Amino acid sequence: MLRLFLDSADIDEIRNVYSLITLDGVTTNPSILAGSKNKYGSPILALKVISKFVTDHGGALHVQPVATAYDGILEDAYYLLEELGRNTWIKIPVTSDGLAAISRLSSEGVNVTAASVFTFSQGMLAYKAGAKCVSVYCNRAEENGIDYPSVITSLKSAFPEKMLLAASFKDNVQAEIASFSGADSLTLKANVLFSDLSTPLMKKTVDGFSASWRDAFGKESIKN
Ligand code: G3P
Repeated sequence: MLRLFLDSADIDEIRNVYSLITLDGVTTNPSILAGSKNKYGSPILALKVISKFVTDHGGALHVQPVATAYDGILEDAYYLLEELGRNTWIKIPVTSDGLAAISRLSSEGVNVTAASVFTFSQGMLAYKAGAKCVSVYCNRAEENGIDYPSVITSLKSAFPEKMLLAASFKDNVQAEIASFSGADSLTLKANVLFSDLSTPLMKKTVDGFSASWRDAFGKESIKN
């Protein structure tokens, strides 16, 4: 079955979504953390609260180091593992330095998600460097003329046993295409995830049911 993650660093939003549906965890990145309401005083304190909540619910937290050079990525990664626990997934963009860090951390048994993947080659390198998960950024790819469904299909067919997490969606159609193309996991922001519940079509449909009932019985509920 498809695994579903929430792309968020807002603990209230995370709690709310967990109260509605079953999730497999939470993913974040530095931009999400920087842009989130945080009542805990520092990003690492917010991450600790999120990590505990997600772990208590049997899920995984994927967190990205902020540094982008090899030594800094490792330093951030070890800090995150120490503060949040060894089960934390370390999310690393597949640059040259990123690939070296992916290789090093994977060889030490760390769960690594290779992130910001736009091409088959990036994903292949990351899997071959030991990453357990590759995250293809669909909307960012599409905006740059990259055929993300074919990247997902090629990677899944070459590495069927590995986790393929599709991310970066402007809408749920992109998520559907990613899933159909072979992604075994999706991560979505809450505003995209729930957007199909309040479309004009849904409003028109539900308003139509209410209007028929009102016209026939002069009330809004089935109860007398
Ligand atoms: O987890 C992936 C992600 O956060 C990137 O998403 O919407 O910024 O392209 P986006």
